[in-house]
Amino acid sequence: MNYDIKDLNLATEGKKRIEWAENDMPVLRQVRERFSQEQPLRGHKMSACLHITAETANLGRTLQAGGADLVLCASNPLSTQDDVTASLVKDYNIPVFAVNGEDNETYYKHIAAAIEHRPVVTMDDGADLVSAILADYPEIGKNILGSMEETTTGVIRLKAMERDGALKFPVIAVNDAVTKNLFDNRYGTGQSTIDGIIRATDVLLAGKNVVIAGYGWCGKGVSMRARGMGGNVIVTEVEPVRALEAVMDGFRVMSMHDAAKIGDLFITLTGNIHVLRKEHFQLMKDGALVANSGHFNVEIDIDALAGLAKEIRKNIRNFVDQYVMHDGRRINLLGEGRLINLAAAEGHPASVMDMSFATQALATEYVIKNEGKLTAQVYTVPTEVEDWVAALKLKSMGITIDELTAEQKHYLDSWEMGT
Ligand SMILES: NC(=O)c1ccc[n+]([C@@H]2O[C@H](COP(=O)([O-])OP(=O)(O)OC[C@H]3O[C@@H](n4cnc5c(N)ncnc54)[C@H](O)[C@@H]3O)[C@@H](O)[C@H]2O)c1
Repeated sequence: MNYDIKDLNLATEGKKRIEWAENDMPVLRQVRERFSQEQPLRGHKMSACLHITAETANLGRTLQAGGADLVLCASNPLSTQDDVTASLVKDYNIPVFAVNGEDNETYYKHIAAAIEHRPVVTMDDGADLVSAILADYPEIGKNILGSMEETTTGVIRLKAMERDGALKFPVIAVNDAVTKNLFDNRYGTGQSTIDGIIRATDVLLAGKNVVIAGYGWCGKGVSMRARGMGGNVIVTEVEPVRALEAVMDGFRVMSMHDAAKIGDLFITLTGNIHVLRKEHFQLMKDGALVANSGHFNVEIDIDALAGLAKEIRKNIRNFVDQYVMHDGRRINLLGEGRLINLAAAEGHPASVMDMSFATQALATEYVIKNEGKLTAQVYTVPTEVEDWVAALKLKSMGITIDELTAEQKHYLDSWEMGT
């Protein structure tokens, strides 16, 4: 088997981690059981570019159980769990191309290796795999039945490709499924971003001014959790409706120019570029902590920060680089500006990835079942899939909900009945 990982000897630890995550993934487990009987992905070559974590390993096992001939590569150079890659190769026979801390060249070499597998179905977290196929491997692109996209940033890129006529095969925006973003982006990113920051810094959030840039699903989740730990949360936004929502949710909202002066901790979650830049670093307090949990490491203008520094103290603590300004102020950049929840913690807890990844697996089945019927556009996840995933998750939690009575169904379907 062809693969490129850090060290096969780490497999024992990785297997334990994969099995531990599996305990909290009952919906995905049910998909795997059905897949292993029905083999809906049989004979299909697949490449998936994802954060290679214990939860992703369980998605990989599910796709493999469904009959897919699967190869995995990393969707971020810092998020790979090396023990998990070892176990995937050794215990589950799934080829992986991912090494934690790999440089940019290796990152793209690994994506190329996943493409050389000649997949007919792909899965992405940030659209790097699809972008590389469309740019450099048009022949492989022609054979692709469809792709799944896991994150907001990827969906934005893919919709731009669709608009420009550059997209050549159908894509399912798994990110936009409510069973994904309502839970994964909000509760998953909410908890794990705080977890990553605390692991990296040991900061006490109580009493701190925590500035959160972006009040989308991720920003809402992090704001909620930071407040829960006693932080004074300040939100910055560019969309009036979102900003108003943050105000009504009880947060202070102001411009980054004003927030920069008082923030103790800054977290960007916008999917946008240079949200924290030179003019903001110039205003920050001594000791400010700066982190990003948006998809790409572009939200913080690191070059501008370096340009302002008289000294850069690398790794003063794991995941912390300290930039010393000419006036002596110290600004601490966490996780090199990459997703802090994956760099310094373990990414989303398995319980939320359960729903995202069950949706991913079912969307894969949908793409294969609908071969020839889908066109080169970005599709939403079918409602039946969403309902099924939510219902199973509730069931696994032992929660029963009401069902509509015949009278209620009739009432909701009719327009004759008024007061
Ligand atoms: N860390 C993770 O594990 C994780 C998980 C899911 C998504 N993400 C990523 O997090 C980012 C946000 O995702 P989301 O689902 O919340 O997206 P979203 O589109 O719902 O929210 C982003 C918000 O940022 C705001 N924004 C844009 N530019 C801004 C600026 N300059 N200043 C302040 N606000 C600005 C937008 O108005 C929007 O309200 C994306 O890059 C996504 O891919 C990360």
